[in-house]
Amino acid sequence: MQPQNLIDAEDLARERLPRVIYDYYRSGAWDEQSLRRNREAYSEIDLLPRVLVDVSRRDASTTLLGTRITLPVLAAPTAFHRLAHPDGEIATARALASVGSIMVLSSLSTMTVEEVTATGAAVWFQLYMNKDPGRTTALVDRVVAAGCRAIVVTADTPVWGVRERDVRNGFHLPPGFGAVNLAPLDPDGEKRSRQGAGMGQAFDWMLHPALSWAELDRLCAASPVPVLLKGIARGDDAERAIAAGCAGVVVSNHGGRQLDGVPATIDTLPAVVQAVAGRGLVLVDGGVRRGTDVLKAIASGADAVQIGRPQLWGLACGGEAGVRHVFESLRKELDVAMALAGCPNLAAITPDLLRRRGRSPG
Ligand code: FNR
Ligand code: LAC
Repeated sequence: MQPQNLIDAEDLARERLPRVIYDYYRSGAWDEQSLRRNREAYSEIDLLPRVLVDVSRRDASTTLLGTRITLPVLAAPTAFHRLAHPDGEIATARALASVGSIMVLSSLSTMTVEEVTATGAAVWFQLYMNKDPGRTTALVDRVVAAGCRAIVVTADTPVWGVRERDVRNGFHLPPGFGAVNLAPLDPDGEKRSRQGAGMGQAFDWMLHPALSWAELDRLCAASPVPVLLKGIARGDDAERAIAAGCAGVVVSNHGGRQLDGVPATIDTLPAVVQAVAGRGLVLVDGGVRRGTDVLKAIASGADAVQIGRPQLWGLACGGEAGVRHVFESLRKELDVAMALAGCPNLAAITPDLLRRRGRSPG
């Protein structure tokens, strides 16, 4: 049975996945307030459709940093795809290639970056910058040589947010699984991935709590491909990222997995869009589950959105075909939503389509 939408996909995946893995994928930090807010905030925005517009042809395509995509929905970087399906990140990349969008490959991929880019998919690499600048440089050189077209630096993770289920479940990587792209850089750390209870114990070696803007400045200056900064919630940080030379920012609260108590990303998006003021891309992720959510994000000024957990539900339900089905479901929903809202293309999806209930516009 194929799930009808992204919510059904989660229900099906919950039945298929071992509990410890399902819990790792779905959890948010502490009370999971921000995880819930990401979803709730979309339902607090109303749509004001335009009528009598010719919507007999709809086009949801756009171009991001030179890559043409037919759907403004990217695969957000998510860790450890082989825990969901034996084909892991290769299945996800193949699905994204057939969908016609971009896969942002996590630093914590369970397949090598070379295997993933060999699928022919358009791949951006999500980077957790290492404490040792030499290791960061080596990794960037490797992923660029492998064909990754951009680097997405994650900024919201100086330490791991506490997902209490992972601590309770003693989450770590089972034997035979590894963060294979980081392993050659830090063999001791790699061993710790197979011990401990939750991200804070098993995976603290990957993070760089002293990471500063100066290091981002240097990375942007040295990188042969565009750099984006992910995990932005504030206009001033977006401004600083553009000043550093970033090609764009990703408004994200890591799917509610880092600092609990932060606002929904759809609510912080407008201030970031205003600060960037067309000088770079603005992407957003967190709680996007329906075509109408994509419409609302684009009307709020995003160039595209990303989905995190739903790709993992698709993988768990059916590998490559399962991931493809998740993205195609969202494509169909967006297409109908665009038609009903009077938007034949993405440029027609403008802020006047929205009415925010009782919330400041950001
Ligand atoms: C993530 N996310 C994430 N982000 C990142 O920069 N690097 C990573 O390795 C991961 N890994 C990861 C694993 C899992 C299981 C989840 C759920 C999330 C965050 C991800 O990129 C994205 O910001 C959120 O998942 C978006 O929210 P939704 O779509 O899951 O609600
Ligand atoms: C997470 C990491 C891997 O959220 O970013 O679990």
